Amino acid sequence: MLSATNNDLLCNVSPGRPMHNAFKQVWLPVMRTDKLEAGGAPVKFMILSEDYVAFRAEDGRVGVFAEKCPHRGCSLALAQNKDCALTCIFHGWKFDVSGQCVETPNVQNPDFPAKVPLKYYPSREAGDALWVYFGEGETPQFPDLIFNRLKPEQILSRAAICHYNWLTGLEAILDPSHVGLLHQNWLNEAPNQGYSADINLMGKSTPPALDIEPTGYGFRYSAIRTTPADTQYIRVTEHISPNGCFIANSKSTRKLFIISVPIDNEHSIQWYFWHNPLGPLTEEDRLYALGATDADHSNFYQTPKQKPSWGQDREAMKNGTSFTGFTDIMFEDFIAGESQGAIIDRTKEFPVPADKAIMWARRFMLDKLKRQEEGQADIFRHTNDFKYGALQSITAETDSNADWKQVTDQRTAARTKNLGIV
Ligand code: FES
Ligand SMILES: [Fe+2]
Repeated sequence: MLSATNNDLLCNVSPGRPMHNAFKQVWLPVMRTDKLEAGGAPVKFMILSEDYVAFRAEDGRVGVFAEKCPHRGCSLALAQNKDCALTCIFHGWKFDVSGQCVETPNVQNPDFPAKVPLKYYPSREAGDALWVYFGEGETPQFPDLIFNRLKPEQILSRAAICHYNWLTGLEAILDPSHVGLLHQNWLNEAPNQGYSADINLMGKSTPPALDIEPTGYGFRYSAIRTTPADTQYIRVTEHISPNGCFIANSKSTRKLFIISVPIDNEHSIQWYFWHNPLGPLTEEDRLYALGATDADHSNFYQTPKQKPSWGQDREAMKNGTSFTGFTDIMFEDFIAGESQGAIIDRTKEFPVPADKAIMWARRFMLDKLKRQEEGQADIFRHTNDFKYGALQSITAETDSNADWKQVTDQRTAARTKNLGIV
């Protein structure tokens, strides 16, 4: 449960608000790289309630600018993309990929272009996505997460635009007890889709007890279930504050990182970074990650919200073929989230121990926001102190008294050695 003030503190990402400032201290993925065609149309997008435009020059470089032309606000999404520059169609002001104004045809003074203040943002293509740093000052280190280090054939990104606040998206990823319920049909099928059989233990064991350990980048927790055979089933999630998680996954070649990125207060992008740290993604893994559809992978959540009750199949619910009346695990998450409302009223919830990670994430961020208000600068910025590349979630069935931290650390040490991460 949260007070209305704290709920607003965490959810409100409008310019000037503390959480807006927090997100401006970290790199954020904004679109799949295949959205940008060399010399093609600039792509307009919104992040943190502000409008931007990205384009790929003929030589392959990418520029990210504030959407409005600094002269008199014509949209640069309409601009010419030519000569490795955007040229505003209104009065022809021209900006090169680095954001420098190079021509102003309606001003004769040759020194004038150098004075034009276009807002330019550092960007980087990695993990099959375009990442942008929207803050000011010195650009922080790029997140050295494992999927950002991999070759193109090892990584596949997919994104969905959801009609809910970014915190709803994060809380869905930090919520282990919904998997055996909301996703029970998927869970039954998962071993046929390449997952190891242990995944079924989520549905067949006790409700998860959560053990949490704070870390410098956020926290990690294990959802611990006692299985019918009295063993312990652990699923460890790594939460990278403020908005991303490595998801515990029962398939070593199909790892997943999910991150919730705020578009505005009522919309967010849920990103899925599927990756295989051990080699190329197999065809089976690619199909699984993308779904068997030809959807727009930058916005694959398209139709259900237009239909009454999101197109829920009551017949399938009645005859027992579907618990939720929906068929796609991700759509189940999006629909449950949208049904909670664009901004959840967290003054009215009734949390239980299985919601512990959600409560932690809120407290962790509120504490940082408080320190930010007290004047500590760059409190959300990722530092260089951690081996981000070593982070990965794990699952394991262990003896009932095994220490999940030890199991995780042993696996991490073995993996980082294998991958040569130092
Ligand atoms: S508004 Fe862009 S050049 Fe005038
Ligand atoms: Fe889910």
